[in-house]
Amino acid sequence: MAQRDDVAKILVGEHQLQARVAELARAIDGAYSDDDRLLLVCVLKGAFMFLGDLMRQLTIRHEVDFMVVSSYGDATESSGVVRILLDLEQNIAGRHVLVVEDIVDSGRTLDYVTRNLRTRRPASLRICSLLSKPSRRAIDVPVDFVGFEIPDEFVIGYGLDFAEQYRNLPFIGVLKEEIYSAS
Ligand code: PRP
Repeated sequence: MAQRDDVAKILVGEHQLQARVAELARAIDGAYSDDDRLLLVCVLKGAFMFLGDLMRQLTIRHEVDFMVVSSYGDATESSGVVRILLDLEQNIAGRHVLVVEDIVDSGRTLDYVTRNLRTRRPASLRICSLLSKPSRRAIDVPVDFVGFEIPDEFVIGYGLDFAEQYRNLPFIGVLKEEIYSAS
């Protein structure tokens, strides 16, 4: 069966996504200067597609580095256990760091990541997340740039997965309940 048959509805369409990513880029352009040598820290895997589009819209000078972090495994609920599977290449001491995430759900992943990064003494540390589910927050993490606040639905696409599938979809969709409840 085609992947799209597993999508109950499209929550954020392709054009709406691209328009909002461009707005976020303008806000980030306004918050930093070229002299800041901004470092984008992309939290993989989910944020890779957002990062790619965001970078193409940014006009200020910046660099990028990656962390692979996993908190969910193949489950649909955060386990609360965050693991750094791959760490940054760069030393971030004295750097202006902007963490780029795909979604803040319980907040546990970003809470862990930002507490960890702060121990490395960056000059500043801010967060940009494409999506946020405020109703699910268990830990309060301040998110400086948010694309969309969304309801508590199981979302996939544009980098977000269910059991490593659907990351390729160019929109944010809601997964049919029978797909995730069957696993
Ligand atoms: C997802 C997402 C965030 C985290 C958000 O990652 O990318 O990092 O969950 O959930 P939280 O706010 O409840 O912690 P996941 O562990 O699914 O890994 P992935 O990015 O590789 O898909």
